[in-house]
Amino acid sequence: MNFKPETLTRIDEVITHYPDLRSGTLPLLHLIQEDVGHISDESIEWIAEKLELEPINVLEVVTFYPMFRRKPIGRRHIKVCRTLPCALAGGYRTCGKFESEFNTRLGEVSLDGEVTVEFVECLASCGTAPVVLIDEVLHENVDEAKAKTISDQIKAEATKGA
Ligand code: FES
Repeated sequence: MNFKPETLTRIDEVITHYPDLRSGTLPLLHLIQEDVGHISDESIEWIAEKLELEPINVLEVVTFYPMFRRKPIGRRHIKVCRTLPCALAGGYRTCGKFESEFNTRLGEVSLDGEVTVEFVECLASCGTAPVVLIDEVLHENVDEAKAKTISDQIKAEATKGA
């Protein structure tokens, strides 16, 4: 598997905390999703082997928790908070703006492969709602106009990188 070396190091370290290897399933899934963006069949098999389980045991955990993605995401990951303070401040409109800017729908990869837009729960910055996390960067007070500006930046960066 093509995991980053630091992910593999973390995995080897995390496993030592679980004498019952099965209990390492959730942390390993989180680390792998953080690394590659989703949980593929190959990742499930890899984890099963690492934790001396059957792949079905890992798959059950993946399908139980809605935060695990089975499909790849775009190069940029736009997470819009939908918890009440952000929703009241226009988070749904913000999300809609990102969707229309990239001509995509929630949870899907835009046709150019550039973004995936998703709703998430509270990002712990409710005082500056609506809040959006793009990759690792938090954006505050993201109304539709700011969503347009951010979208333009992402498109410009994509063109530069192409
Ligand atoms: S409700 Fe959106 S950051 Fe807390």
